This record gives sequence, C-alpha cells and structure tokens, in this order.
Amino acid sequence: MDHSSAKVALVTGGSGGIGTEVAAKLSEAFSLVIVVDIKDDISDHAKALSEKFGRKFTGIKADVSSFESCTQLGKDVNRITEGHGIDALVNNAGITRDSMFGRMDYQLWDSVIKVDLYSMFNVTRQFSEKMKERGYGRIINVSSISWRGNVGQANYASAKAGVVGFTNALSREFARYNVTVNGISPGLVDTEILKSIPEKIMKDLIEKIPMKRLAKPEEVADLVAFLASEKASYITGETININGGFFF
Ligand SMILES: NC(=O)c1ccc[n+]([C@@H]2O[C@H](COP(=O)([O-])OP(=O)(O)OC[C@H]3O[C@@H](n4cnc5c(N)ncnc54)[C@H](O)[C@@H]3O)[C@@H](O)[C@H]2O)c1
Repeated sequence: MDHSSAKVALVTGGSGGIGTEVAAKLSEAFSLVIVVDIKDDISDHAKALSEKFGRKFTGIKADVSSFESCTQLGKDVNRITEGHGIDALVNNAGITRDSMFGRMDYQLWDSVIKVDLYSMFNVTRQFSEKMKERGYGRIINVSSISWRGNVGQANYASAKAGVVGFTNALSREFARYNVTVNGISPGLVDTEILKSIPEKIMKDLIEKIPMKRLAKPEEVADLVAFLASEKASYITGETININGGFFF
C-alpha cells in the first residue's frame, strides 16, 4: 500500500531540542508535521519551522500529562487532517526532576511519572485505533539511557523503564495491524534538559562516554526518522540505544 499521499506525523515536545530536530527531519518525508508542546509559543515555533524549511508544520498546545488535554488534541488533529489522523507518532515530550530519593517529595515523583509515562497512554490512545483501522502506523517512544536506573533519578528511571514496557506491550498487540511500535534510548543529548546538571558532573560524564562527546539532536532525529519510515517495516518492539557506546 502506498502511504505517500497523505502522510501526517505528530511529535510531542515538538519545540524542545530533540523534538525540533525530529520535526524538521520528518518534514522531509511527511506532508504535514504537527508539533505539540505545553509551551505557549508552539504555533509561532511551527510557523518558524515552516518558513525555515518551506514545508508544512502546525503547532498545537497540549499538556501530555493530562488525558483531558490530549483528548482535545485528538479532536484538533482529526479536524486538521479532515479525519485522516496521523501516520507516525513520536512520543517525545519529557522532563527530569532529579533528586536523591531521601529528598524526593511527592510532587517531584508525580510530575515526572505524569509527563514521561502517563503521556504514553494519554497521547497514543488518541491515535492508535485509527492507525489499526487503516492498517498502517509508526509509533516511536522516547525512553532514555536512565531507564536501567541512575542515581538521583528514581522518578525518571521508573517512567522511562515504563516506556520500554509500554513499547513492548503495544508492539505485540499492534503488529497484526501493520502498526509498528519502537522506542529509542538516547544517552546524553545536547539540549536544555541537561542544563540542570552541574558543569563538573557534566564534564565527568562526558569523560565516561566512549565517544567523548554528547549526541547532537540531529543524530537522534535521523534514528527516529528511520523508524518512522516505511523502510523500518519489519522492526517492532525494539528500543534502540543511541548513546556513543555509553551505559550507566
Ligand atoms: N537530552 C538528553 O540528554 C536526553 C537523553 C535521553 C532521553 N531524553 C528524552 O528526550 C526527550 C526530549 O528531550 P529534550 O532533550 O529535547 O528536552 P527539552 O527540554 O529540550 O524538550 C522537551 C520538550 O517537552 C516539552 N514538554 C514538557 N512537559 C510537557 C507537557 N506536559 N506537555 C507537552 N510538552 C511538554 C517541553 O516544553 C520541551 O519543549 C525527553 O523525553 C527526554 O526525557 C533526552
């Protein structure tokens, strides 16, 4: 089946470091890229991307941690795409709120689990059934190297491990509908999310990376774009490491 006629991709966290590069890369193959973010200026961000690349982007403000907000997102997307829905979904929005467990209050736990894990349900649930009905879909979930467990990240590691389990479960359910579900597990990528890490710790971390450098968001975007393409047709239930050889 040819899916080239009406290809729509949606990227959550679409105005962040990785999300922006993923959106830009996907616009090479998709006729419309919808960028979703909690930031107020997401429409302006989409406009700027359209002007920069001369391709079609639309911005929608939504909070991926809220099922209600995502239900509205589903309705907005249905309207914008005239009932088509989306062909590829990149569940990328995420936050960190690092803290040693003894100092981790409920709010730090709750906010990370809601944004990084509940979002998987809240967003995917809006689009998966239409993908199955149409017999085509690509879902890519952004986990993290931290999913195996990292000091000061009990909240984040739990959420990102949940993303791996979610990916595996959905891949088994959706395979027969030709909807693939994969994850990526980046190491350290040069974006805002790392800015909260003190300089000295960052230096030590980079020293431990076999490639001795951070990933560029574009490198992550290339992997996502491949998984979102028709070429990745027989890959499902994988979470692919992209970490310069680094493991905690
Ligand atoms: N940068 C890294 O080193 C790294 C490593 C591994 C995994 N990741 C993961 O990659 C993803 C993207 O991170 P990034 O590095 O681009 O960070 P980033 O902070 O640049 O981007 C994250 C984006 O998500 C958005 N967002 C946050 N909460 C949201 C909400 N409730 N609803 C909608 N949007 C929301 C933010 O506004 C931001 O634009 C995250 O899931 C992160 O956990 C990043």
